[in-house]
Amino acid sequence: MTVREIVTVGHPVLRERAREVSVEELATPAVQQLIDDLIDTMHAANGAGIAANQIGVPLRVTTIEVNHNPRYPYKPQIPLTVVVNPEIEFLDDELVEINEGCLSVPNLRGNVMRHVNIRVRYLDRDGVAHDEVKRGLTAGTFQHECDHLDGRLFLDRVTDPTTFTTWEQFERFHREAFVARITEFVRRVGS
Ligand code: NI
Repeated sequence: MTVREIVTVGHPVLRERAREVSVEELATPAVQQLIDDLIDTMHAANGAGIAANQIGVPLRVTTIEVNHNPRYPYKPQIPLTVVVNPEIEFLDDELVEINEGCLSVPNLRGNVMRHVNIRVRYLDRDGVAHDEVKRGLTAGTFQHECDHLDGRLFLDRVTDPTTFTTWEQFERFHREAFVARITEFVRRVGS
């Protein structure tokens, strides 16, 4: 088990466009080890996802998992998913305002608009191609992680800076209303 250091906002690697991984490179011990390290680091930090550039490696690899996550207890479960070279397509114009945080942005949350219905094409760690529809908060998590691979942070998408909060003040003043709204949304869209 190798938990890697997570780089934080201000590190230039978070602002680079990560590069594609070929199927041959994906099969190498170095990239397979990178994937294991991403999973271990995501678990250790209770992240819902982590992108390779968040541990300083500018490759288009991200891992996603939501399993009774204490940082985001209202998120529907997502099985452990290794996502390589993802491409997202928005299926319609429906948007939802989601309160997000990020392992690379310590102690800050803010509201961003995310597409509700997306299609994502990616390779898993074995190089198998996937073509899946994601909805709701799960779609939001995929968009957040894929943004990382394009050098983009949730900070860039916050249109109302008055929604920025520390985690402590989110808990004190905003959590209840957000969770009520987003729970109703999850009930409606199903994920
Ligand atoms: Ni993030």
